[in-house]
Amino acid sequence: MPVKAYDLTGRTALVTGAASGIGRAAAILLAEAGAAVHCADRDEKGLRQTTERISAAGGTARAHPLDVTDRAQLAAAVDEAVRTDGSLDVMANIAGIMHSSTVLETDDADLDRVLAVNFKGVLYGCQEAARAMIAQGAGGSIITMASGAIDTGAPGLLCYGAAKAAVVQLTKTLASEVGRHRIRVNAVAPGWIRTPMTDHHSERDDSRDPGRDPAGDPGDRPRSRIEEAMTHAAPLGRVGEPEDIAHAVLHLASDASSFTTGQIMRPNGGVAMPW
Ligand code: NAI
Repeated sequence: MPVKAYDLTGRTALVTGAASGIGRAAAILLAEAGAAVHCADRDEKGLRQTTERISAAGGTARAHPLDVTDRAQLAAAVDEAVRTDGSLDVMANIAGIMHSSTVLETDDADLDRVLAVNFKGVLYGCQEAARAMIAQGAGGSIITMASGAIDTGAPGLLCYGAAKAAVVQLTKTLASEVGRHRIRVNAVAPGWIRTPMTDHHSERDDSRDPGRDPAGDPGDRPRSRIEEAMTHAAPLGRVGEPEDIAHAVLHLASDASSFTTGQIMRPNGGVAMPW
């Protein structure tokens, strides 16, 4: 028998980054759990694939092509979710970009671009969702996507790590401000997850290694130097899949986590074990 606390029937979720990787897996899983899912992303083709998969499995999904750096577009998606499904119960801010440059290489344009998507885009999503949830008076769950980068000083990840650290601060601050409205706010800080984002990063890294063939068979996994390092570093002996993180999102979205707010969940295979 399914566990009732994980049942999202009658709830509405908005998921950004839903055209690919973790966001797509989360949108699909939330729909499987019964939620009506509003899928937002700037990649229209990927969005269509996600909503078609949800619909084909009997779920309810609607596509919102948008850029999370545009507050008005996010506000319109929140309004449409409330108008079509009567409420917004779950907001999962998953859209993000990876950027790699050393501290000495980093320029203003890099910093502005990464902060705009990975921090401001999340801030806008949190603000618009919290306003709608406060107005409807029925509580809700807001989820943000941080990263294992918050726990370390990985070379090249200044902009990315700084934006994710800011997301954690946003998560804790908002949690302390909206708890009295029964709105919970939590972050997920995944370890290395196999998605188009990390595939791209691996290929760039491998292209610096003459012993590697970045065009090699992607089925021959672990397929990159970074993945191999992450696999060896993880007590669980593997890197993650998008579904690993989707389950963390489902937990935080559902009543199973009804006493959890302002927390960072770290599905990372055990790579980092901070207090
Ligand atoms: P992905 O590249 O597969 O998916 C990211 C999605 O965000 C894409 O569909 C992209 O179109 C969308 N997006 C990017 N900028 C956007 C914008 N301005 N407006 C609207 N949509 C936009 O990447 P992945 O791996 O699924 O990452 C999802 C989130 O998880 C990101 O926030 C990432 O930082 C985070 N994360 C990923 C990890 C990994 O190992 N893959 C580890 C830790 C965190």
